[in-house]
Formats: sequence, structure tokens, C-alpha cells
Amino acid sequence: MSSTTRNKKHKKGKGSLKKKDRRLNRKSADRLDLYQRSVNSPETDVDFVTEQFEALRGRSARHFREDFCGTAAMAAEFLKRDIKNTAEGFDLDPEPVTWGKNRNFAKVEDWEERMTFHLTDVRNPADKRPDLTCAQNFSYWYFKERAELLGYFKSVYADLAEDGLFVVDLYGGPEAMSEMEEEREIDGGAFTYVWDQKQYNPGSGEYNTAIHFRFNDGSEWKNAFEYNWRFWHLTELRDVMFEAGFTEVRPYFEGTDEDDEEEGNGIFDYDEVGENCEAWLGYLIALKGPKSSETAPKKKKKKK
Ligand SMILES: C[S@@+](CC[C@H](N)C(=O)[O-])C[C@H]1O[C@@H](n2cnc3c(N)ncnc32)[C@H](O)[C@@H]1O
Repeated sequence: MSSTTRNKKHKKGKGSLKKKDRRLNRKSADRLDLYQRSVNSPETDVDFVTEQFEALRGRSARHFREDFCGTAAMAAEFLKRDIKNTAEGFDLDPEPVTWGKNRNFAKVEDWEERMTFHLTDVRNPADKRPDLTCAQNFSYWYFKERAELLGYFKSVYADLAEDGLFVVDLYGGPEAMSEMEEEREIDGGAFTYVWDQKQYNPGSGEYNTAIHFRFNDGSEWKNAFEYNWRFWHLTELRDVMFEAGFTEVRPYFEGTDEDDEEEGNGIFDYDEVGENCEAWLGYLIALKGPKSSETAPKKKKKKK
């Protein structure tokens, strides 16, 4: 497993600068464009969740729900994969939703018939029971009280299809709780993404973080995004998921890059134990209904 740092599963900067990026600065930049380029990897994320769904349920997921969807990059990618796919996105804030409609969905075939946005709290039900519900980029950390988190997980459970899966990503390791900044160059050095772990209070679990963007002309977009969260640990989350009714909760951890032990390789494998590295990224997949042993397709035995 890697000692990767937050969002290392996402893009690394490589290659030469595109024309439109040469003059990128605080004045010209679009905050949500910078965010997506730094943080989101919808192709990789959708690959992971749909492949896991097929492996655990022996069928394809057809209806997808993206909670805390923001620009709904994952839902857009899910719709692109198959014309039969449908999705719903939930977010309180109209700004990223409008941006996402224009930028992520505009070229997706028949998206208006296949996608429904709900500008409402994630604890509200979907129009149609989802096969797969995802809450990405640690957004469920907005729920700071255990009772609130349990309420959210119970609402996800009630809303899912009878054999549905709930997928959340998570972050852990001692470095995750350190007050520190991590910088990463994006798209060949077009700009620098800065993840700022401003404050962690061990007594309350309160976790205050921000994203800054730095540009090649010396300008900076400080606190472009700020988050006031609670840091939830894997074991706490697993316990709350079981209490909400899920029958099985499976942890997945990212593997290590072959060429650089400090980097993740973007591949997440099922692992009940994990490895105590400085910082790690993972997923939890919570199952509603039958356990995976009852629905996963049997693996064919290799011929000797
Ligand atoms: C960290 S952003 C994540 C956006 C997106 N999931 C991603 O991966 O890039 C969190 C989003 O959650 C939304 N949000 C926060 N609390 C919410 C709630 N209770 N119900 C619905 N949306 C909420 C915010 O408006 C924000 O767009």
C-alpha cells in the first residue's frame, strides 16, 4: 500500500503547457475548472465503482446517485458509459450544479432525459432507487455528530435498491491529521494546487481544511475552497454503516506506484487489514441486502 497523500489518486502534472494555460492567473481563472482539474478523476472513479458493482452483484449498475455532487463529474461520466444509464445528483449549492450542467453534461447524449439534479439535502430520497450511491471527496465529513452521520447513512440505506451499494472515499494515516500544506503541479505546471490541512482538534475531531491555487505570474487564489469538517476514521465509519443496516462493509486501499514508493498507483484493492503508512486513501463499499458471497459471480477455476 502506498504512503500517498490526499488526492494523489488524482492527476499528476505532465507535458507541456496548453495555450490557454500560459496566461492563467488569479483574475482569469475559473475556480471550478481549477478544482476539477486538480481533484476529480471521474473516469477512474467510475471505473472503480462500476467494476466493483459487477464483481459484487453479478450485474451492471444502471441507476447512479451522486451525493454532494457539486459539478456531478461522476454522474456525467456514468451517463457516457451507456445510453441505458440514468443518474441523480444532490447538492445544496446551485453554483457548481449550473457549472456542471454547462461543462460536464452539455455533450452527453440525451442527458436532460437521463439526469435529474436535486438542489436539496442529501438526506432526501431519490426519484428512483439507485443501484449505486456515491459520496466522493470526503463530503459526508460535513456531518460532525455521530447521530447526523447515522441519519445520513440510514437515509442512503432506505433509498438504495434491494441489492444496492454505497461507496464513500476516505483518507487516513497520521499525516492526514497533521497541520500542513501539500502542493502539486497541475497539467504540466499550468498552476499549483495546494491542499491545506489548517487545523485538527483531537478532542472534537474537528478538521478545517482549504484549497488554494498558485499561478505562474505569482498571483494566488487563497482559500478558493474551505471545508469545516469532522475527521471520521475508517473503523468509526464501518460501525455506523453496520448500525444503519448495511450487511457488509468492505475496505479498499490504494496500491503503491512501482517507480515511486511515496506515490499511489491509482489501483484500489479489497483489504480488511490495511497498512499503517503516513497517509493513505481508500474506499468503503457498504452492501445492502445479500452479502457479496451470495451474489458475486463464482470465479472460474484455472485449468492446470
Ligand atoms: C467537497 S464538495 C464535493 C463535490 C464533489 N462531490 C466532488 O467530488 O468534487 C462538497 C459539496 O457538498 C455540498 N453539500 C454540503 N452539505 C450538503 C448537504 N447536506 N446536502 C447536499 N449537499 C451538500 C456542497 O454544496 C458542495 O458542493
